[in-house]
Amino acid sequence: MSKLKWAGASVAGALMMFAGTSAFAVTIGFSQVGDEGDWRPAFSKDMQEEAKKQGIDLKFADAQGKQEEQLKAVRAFIAQRVDAIIIAPVVVTGWDQVLKEAQRAKIPVFLADRDVDVTDKSLFVARISADFNLEGKLAGAWLAAASKGTCDIVELQGTVGSAPAIERKKGFEAVVSQFPNMKIVRSQSGDFTTEGGKKVMEAFIKATNNLKGICATFAHNDNMQLGAIQAMKEAGLKPSQDVLMVSVDYVPAMKKALAAGEANASVELRSAIGKYIYPVVTDYLKNPKELPKWIVIPSDLHTAQGM
Ligand code: AHR
Repeated sequence: MSKLKWAGASVAGALMMFAGTSAFAVTIGFSQVGDEGDWRPAFSKDMQEEAKKQGIDLKFADAQGKQEEQLKAVRAFIAQRVDAIIIAPVVVTGWDQVLKEAQRAKIPVFLADRDVDVTDKSLFVARISADFNLEGKLAGAWLAAASKGTCDIVELQGTVGSAPAIERKKGFEAVVSQFPNMKIVRSQSGDFTTEGGKKVMEAFIKATNNLKGICATFAHNDNMQLGAIQAMKEAGLKPSQDVLMVSVDYVPAMKKALAAGEANASVELRSAIGKYIYPVVTDYLKNPKELPKWIVIPSDLHTAQGM
């Protein structure tokens, strides 16, 4: 808070107020996971554009999928004495130490998108994100209805140890376990990438004699599903007809796949969420008070029929 620079009655301040943006200059460090898939770059772009609109000086650090890069970035933000830090953590573990360093430096930390697993919840102010567990449940509920409760499923998991991979799996399994004739027969990580999804699906196709007996593919994100679609087409299979296809993100390429009849359903993970995240941070900086630990952004299910 000591670094908040009130613009007061300056011309710059008046202009910012006129533009409908924050009346004080804030510097925020944002440590982003990387640029895997289509959703993540859309989220990064939105965070950068929204920061400009709101008059926020955003220091953006892309960790290229490596937690050690995120730890370095957060320590650099602390050294620069930014006003606040936002982290979209690659994985849930390994955060206690660096969050303690931020707390000692009196720099509030917010989580965006992904979660951390820390025992001391006071190490961050709040997480602003969708409910990944609910996303898994929505995918599972859609599949239970579409398959009438009988389905052997192959699962493409996201990055091992990441909140969306953990929670989407849990949510999906919570629904599937209610149906005695639904089960996940194969499950592997495709690391949230198109190439990863394609490779995993190629292995599943080989191991199951062209997906014999497989009723559905649940992918933790659309990019892996898009890779799986490619692999299935190359093997002469018809995705969405031979095998039901449900995934998460609802990115533009998945919308096209749904419209082309190559996928059945996708749960939307909103990427334009800077408009929700920054006001939480700037309001807190103006008036620091305890916030709900989790501010949830809604998720919706989209189907090919609903398009
Ligand atoms: O954390 C959200 C997930 O991360 C998105 O669903 C996926 O596309 C991204 O890599």
